[in-house]
This record gives sequence, C-alpha cells and structure tokens, in this order.
Amino acid sequence: MTAARLGRPRLHLRATTSTNDRARTLAAAGAPHGTLVTAAEQTAGRGRQGRAWSAPRGRALLVSLVLRDPPALLPLVAALAVAEVAGEQARIKWPNDVLVDGRKIAGILAEGRPQDGWAVLGIGLNVALRVEDLPPELHDTAGTLGLEPADLEPTLDRLLDALEHTLAMSETQLLEAYRARDALRDREVSWAGGRGRAAGIDGEGRLVVELADGGRTQLSAGEVHLERGSARRGGAA
Ligand code: BTN
Repeated sequence: MTAARLGRPRLHLRATTSTNDRARTLAAAGAPHGTLVTAAEQTAGRGRQGRAWSAPRGRALLVSLVLRDPPALLPLVAALAVAEVAGEQARIKWPNDVLVDGRKIAGILAEGRPQDGWAVLGIGLNVALRVEDLPPELHDTAGTLGLEPADLEPTLDRLLDALEHTLAMSETQLLEAYRARDALRDREVSWAGGRGRAAGIDGEGRLVVELADGGRTQLSAGEVHLERGSARRGGAA
C-alpha cells in the first residue's frame, strides 16, 4: 500500500454513467494510486448483486477511487471509513452497508483486477438527499446524513481522511473497530443458502453464523438479510 494522498488526481464530472466505470478505465490505463473520479449525477450507477444505485443530482457523494495493491479486506476497510464519517451511532451490516438508525446511508462497490494489482472502490454516500426523492421502493430502507449540498465537499475531505486512516490499520485493528460497529451480531439473518444467528466476524472478515442444528458456517461473500423483529440476545435492538 502506498502512502500517497488519496484524491489526486481528481476527475469531476457533471454526469457520467458510473464513476466506477470511469475509474476502471483510468486504472486499466495506468492511473496512479489515489486517483479519484466524482460525479454530480450517474445515469447508470451500479450497486452490489447487479442492482442499480440511485441518487438525486448533487445531493450524494458518488465517488470511485483507484487503489494500487489494495488490502484483502477492502470492503470492510471502506465500510469502517464511511462509518467513521457518519458518526458514533453508525453501524455496519456485513459486509459493507453502513446504517444509521437501521437505514442504509451508504453503499460500497469494490471491483478489481487482482492480477493487475488494482481495485476500484466505489462509494455512494447519501449526504444531503431527501429519502422521499429516491424511488419509492427505497423509502423504508434508505437513510441520509441529513446535511446540505454545501456539505458535500467537506464530507468528501473527511471521507478521504477516514479512508487513509482505515487503510493504514493492521487487520487486527481493523477487525476490532469493525466488530464494535457490527449491526448483525446476535441477530437472526437469512441468505440465499439458509438462516441462523449472526455470531460476529472472523479473522478473515467472514460473517460467522450459528445454525439451528448447533453447527456454524462462515459466509465469505454475498448478501444477508436481517430478519425483522429479531432482538439482539440479552438486550434491545
Ligand atoms: C451497494 O449496492 O450497496 C453498492 C452501491 C455503490 C454505489 C456507488 S456510487 C459511486 C460508485 N459508482 C457506481 O456505479 N457505484 C458506486
């Protein structure tokens, strides 16, 4: 990992299909570590699991960073940085959804070419949007920092600082800080292959799940769903 400042050079676009696509093109052409692509608006913003990512123009941070020699736990590194920006109350739903009051305020899409030693880290952070301006199907789950459009650039500065901080952490430090914000711990979760009770994050950043038959499994990729109404063992949610 190089110590170069993140965010330089920077390409800012009024509109683009996807900042991740622009950053991937730059990375493949040799752009240096820290290269940043930002946009006021995306016409084909991409999320995880093949989903679209929506954000009203000029109200969310839409950023993609080129990282050379990225860490293995990049999605967790990025989630922790976003949570630090969002504040003490922010929690992380494994692997990298950042929640405030149970609502998703940011999404992270890390894509890469490990064989070429680079990754593109895409982050959409709902800084100043109004949830009612999002598509109706997101109204119950999306959240926002509740700031103003003028706060976008200062928030970007804080995000880049936070990323420099979390990228510099050892895996032990990272996992300790991540676990302190684990939104799933002791909650009932389901995923494409089953369901169980989340039992924390292991040393490789996997989600450990206790199964009803007493067994355990580790999830290393994919998406889990928090079962509504599942109380945290030994206390309120
Ligand atoms: C998710 O599904 O939670 C991940 C969403 C990632 C969205 C960001 S916005 C900036 C960058 N460009 C994209 O097309 N996607 C990421």
